[in-house]
Amino acid sequence: MAEPAARPEGTSGGIVIKDDWPGYELDLFSYPAHYCGDLDCVFIPHGVIMDRTERLARNIMDDLGDHDIVVLCVLKGGYRFCVDLVDRIKSLSRNSDRSIPMRVHFIRLKSYLNDQSTEDLHILGAEDLSFLAGKNVLIVEAIVGTGKTMETLLKYVEAFRPKLIKVAGLLVKRVPHNAACLPDYVGFEIPDRFVVGYALDYNEYFRDLTHICVISKSGKMKYKI
Ligand code: HPA
Ligand code: MG
Repeated sequence: MAEPAARPEGTSGGIVIKDDWPGYELDLFSYPAHYCGDLDCVFIPHGVIMDRTERLARNIMDDLGDHDIVVLCVLKGGYRFCVDLVDRIKSLSRNSDRSIPMRVHFIRLKSYLNDQSTEDLHILGAEDLSFLAGKNVLIVEAIVGTGKTMETLLKYVEAFRPKLIKVAGLLVKRVPHNAACLPDYVGFEIPDRFVVGYALDYNEYFRDLTHICVISKSGKMKYKI
């Protein structure tokens, strides 16, 4: 990230979900029947994610809307957020006099087993990103915890000499983190709980859930490896 985000120290800039937020009862929403018993609550409903994403798209357009953008989607968890964010940026761009060309590329990272970070970050299928040289790059990531993954990724991307790197993160966990690695655009700041859905997984399950939910103890047991 080229410049520090302008926000008060210790805050992420996203919608703050407090530690005591119990979420919504599951029965108030629809969710796939195959996950019955595997979830504790709906933490962030899909509609709220979409509304927040629309606003992030506007902020991104205001900052980056004068040049081409290369979007770098961090797979697998970032795919839904990336699709929805790019969609919103495109529709803002269509409805204004600033139509910006966007290219979308994908990079795949893996560091979690069960609900634990393995310290062992893999950039899978890492390709030559030399086309990023001199470009405005928007990294789109679903979730940022300590910032370690982001630090590694930023170093990796910086080596290809883009003109500017900005990061959009849908979720930032409230854990001690490296402030330099906080995203420039944050959807929600959440407590340190393991969440699934909206492409976030637990051992590859729950990506097919549209809301962001908290996984239950029995859900963790059922899908543990
Ligand atoms: N859920 C899914 N994947 C994750 C999480 C989480 O809470 N934190 C880091 N990767
Ligand atoms: Mg994962």
